[in-house]
Amino acid sequence: MPSHLRLGVNIDHVATIRNARGGAFPDPARAAELAQSAGADGITIHLREDRRHIRDDDLVRIKSATDLPINLEMAVTDEMLVIGERFKPHAACFVPEKREERTTEGGLNVAGLHNQVAPAVARMRESGSRVSLFIEPDPVQIAVAEVLQAPVVELHTGKYAELWLAGDEIGLEAELEKLRIAAQEAAKRGIEPHAGHGLTYDNVGPVAAIPELAELNIGHFLVGEAVFVGLEASIAKMRQLMDEART
Ligand code: PXP
Repeated sequence: MPSHLRLGVNIDHVATIRNARGGAFPDPARAAELAQSAGADGITIHLREDRRHIRDDDLVRIKSATDLPINLEMAVTDEMLVIGERFKPHAACFVPEKREERTTEGGLNVAGLHNQVAPAVARMRESGSRVSLFIEPDPVQIAVAEVLQAPVVELHTGKYAELWLAGDEIGLEAELEKLRIAAQEAAKRGIEPHAGHGLTYDNVGPVAAIPELAELNIGHFLVGEAVFVGLEASIAKMRQLMDEART
């Protein structure tokens, strides 16, 4: 079991609140700074095609506000690849993206889209980023991730989070088992497994306890909780719950 489960804090929704009014506040660069002091291990940002949260000018400001590694989530498009190659994030996480979706629905189908994803993975690898693929916890997708020589996969926990909310205990255990098997399968193939999407204080424990996972990326819940307790406190509590799940 990796001794330290890393916490990547996704600060997109600080920018969502800023954009609701236009202007400059609250500033996602300040969120990156505070996340670092609260014990985050990385900053995750998703530059979407429609720029609904993080904008191009945020990239550089966020990078200079923190020493933490930046994980840039990006669609497999030429526009994002050009930006990614220029920005050179520590990690580049390829995600599926639909303009009409409220948030990222489902993982990237790397098996079905192999011919599009392969050159994108190669471009970001050659530009020096550690490539990650955001996929469903499915052994077929993991096998293709290995063919694509992706060093990291991020397992989509969205379905797990939905089943948790619905109180569907049987479905939840089945989905958790899929996550466990996928994490084992990735590790067996030499791919570092991460996980994320929809994680909260209530549901993070069983996921954090999966021993092969090296990192969780969490955003919306932490920013929401920050409204009540402040960003540093919301991150520190998540950090504590993740540590407790590993002891
Ligand atoms: N990981 C990936 C790849 C994502 O796309 C997102 C959402 O942007 C997250 C993690 C974080 O999900 P949430 O905001 O629900 O915590």
